[in-house]
Amino acid sequence: MGKIVRGQKIGILTAGGDCPGINAAIRGVGKTAIVKYGMRLVGISDGFTGLITKEYRELTEHDLSGILTLGGTILGTSREKPFKGMGKGKNEISKPVLIKEHYEQMGLDCLVCIGGNGTLKTANLLSQEGLNVVGIPKTIDNDVWGTDLTFGFDSAVNIATEAIDRLHSTANSHKRIMIIELMGHNAGWIALYSGIAGGGDVILIPEIEYNEEKIAEYLLHRVNENKPYSIVVLAEGIKNPAKDRSAAQYISKRINEMTGLETRETVLGYIQRGGTPSPMDRVLATRYGTAAADMIAERDFGKMVALKDNRIVSVSLGEVSGKLKLVEPNDPLVIQAQNMGTSFGI
Ligand code: F6P
Repeated sequence: MGKIVRGQKIGILTAGGDCPGINAAIRGVGKTAIVKYGMRLVGISDGFTGLITKEYRELTEHDLSGILTLGGTILGTSREKPFKGMGKGKNEISKPVLIKEHYEQMGLDCLVCIGGNGTLKTANLLSQEGLNVVGIPKTIDNDVWGTDLTFGFDSAVNIATEAIDRLHSTANSHKRIMIIELMGHNAGWIALYSGIAGGGDVILIPEIEYNEEKIAEYLLHRVNENKPYSIVVLAEGIKNPAKDRSAAQYISKRINEMTGLETRETVLGYIQRGGTPSPMDRVLATRYGTAAADMIAERDFGKMVALKDNRIVSVSLGEVSGKLKLVEPNDPLVIQAQNMGTSFGI
C-alpha cells in the first residue's frame, strides 16, 4: 500500500445512461472517503455538463444516507461528450479547457467518473489532460472492457427475466410465438443471460449473425414436436434491415410470413434501467465505490476499478478506453445453451 493522503477534495459525477446501483456507488465512494479518510465530496450535476457549467454541491455523509436502494442517480446525468467536435468553433473556449479551469476553481484534488464506455473514454482524455481521474464502470449493457461485470447488469437481467417468465404463460395460452427485444446497445449480454434464465427457445445477439430460414425451420420443428408456442429473446443491436421498425417488429413479421405462425412482439425498453438495484448490484457498486476511495487515498489515478475473478482490481483507463467487451460466439454459455437445444438462429 502506498502513502495515504487524507483530507482531499473529491469531485464525483455520473454520466451516460443511468442504471440501478449508481447511488450505491456514490455512497460507497463518499462514505469511505469521508469516514475513513476525512475527505470532502463534491457532487457535480448532470455528468460532464456540470463541470462545464460549474453546477455542483458539497455532499455530506448525511446526504449519502437513504440512497442505497434508490434507482437512477441523485446527481443527474447527461450524454455530454466534451471532447466531441473540438476545434470547430474557432473563437469558443473549448469545453475541456473550461472543465480544467473549473476543476481548479472548485479546488478539486481528483474526479470520480461513474459511467459506461463513453464516460470512461472522456475520463481517459481528461486524465491525459492532467486531471486526477478514477473511473467506476456502470451500465446495464455489461460491455465495458477490462472488467468481468458492471453494476446495473444484474438488475436488468432480473427485470428482463421476469418479463420473459410472464410471456411464457400468455404464449402457452394462445399458442403464439412471443418475441421480446432487450437492450444492450451493440452487445448481447442482457439477451444471453436473461434468455437462458427465462428459458428462451431462440436467442438472437449481435455477436452471432442469425439466418431467418434457420429460425423459421427451428420454430416449425418445435410445432411438429408438439411444442406449439415459443419464446424468441433478442438484443436490440441485432441486424435489422427494416430501418423504420424495431428489431422485434422486423423478426416478428418475418417469422409470421415464413411460418404462418401467429407472432406478437414486446420491446421492454427503459423498464430495464429503472428502479431499485438488485442486492448483487448494490454489493458490486459498494465494492467499486469503496475501492475507488482507497485508490484516491493512495493517489492512484488514471485508472478504473474493475472485477476480475471476483476480486476488485484496477486497470488503466488507457487500456479500457475505446474498446468494447462483447460476447464471444463460442462463449461457454452460448455453447451450453446450444447443447440444450436453444437456437441462436444459425
Ligand atoms: O447503455 C445503456 C442503454 O440503455 C443501452 O442499452 C441503450 O441502447 C441506450 O442506453 C439507450 O440510450 P438513451 O438513454 O440515450 O436512449
